[in-house]
Amino acid sequence: MSKTVFVLNGPNLNMLGKREPGIYGGKTLKDIENDCVAMGRDLGLAVDFRQSNHEGVLVDWLHEAGENAVGVAINAGAYTHTSLALHDAIRAIPIPVIEVHISNVHAREAFRHHSMIAPACKGVICGFGPTSYVLALHALKSITD
Ligand code: DQA
Repeated sequence: MSKTVFVLNGPNLNMLGKREPGIYGGKTLKDIENDCVAMGRDLGLAVDFRQSNHEGVLVDWLHEAGENAVGVAINAGAYTHTSLALHDAIRAIPIPVIEVHISNVHAREAFRHHSMIAPACKGVICGFGPTSYVLALHALKSITD
């Protein structure tokens, strides 16, 4: 039976494909979801892929993952840099969480260099475009086996 992992996406990621394609590329979030579901199938992981523009919804989904999943990959978007609530939610659940970014946040504006959630996460993957998500699934597979 496949183990379930949640792939959570925060604000503005529903705009991928239209949003700053020079930074985030031309793939839509649906394209990324399809890639994640296909890779999950290869890895024996059932991928529950979601997006919300609302911080509290992401907190609720982290709590739900803590009950129903073996791990989480989260691209928290701009909440990465601001959200103590997401930091606390990640610390509150007993499963590994991996922080994901499409862009290399460290090569961008100074305000993107600090992550509020990284200290609560198992690890961080950033800068590989949509492949960052697939790499996070490989990481989740290896640390939850
Ligand atoms: C992002 C990087 C964040 O700084 C930004 O606010 C995003 C997307 C990324 O995937 O590269 O919304 O998380």
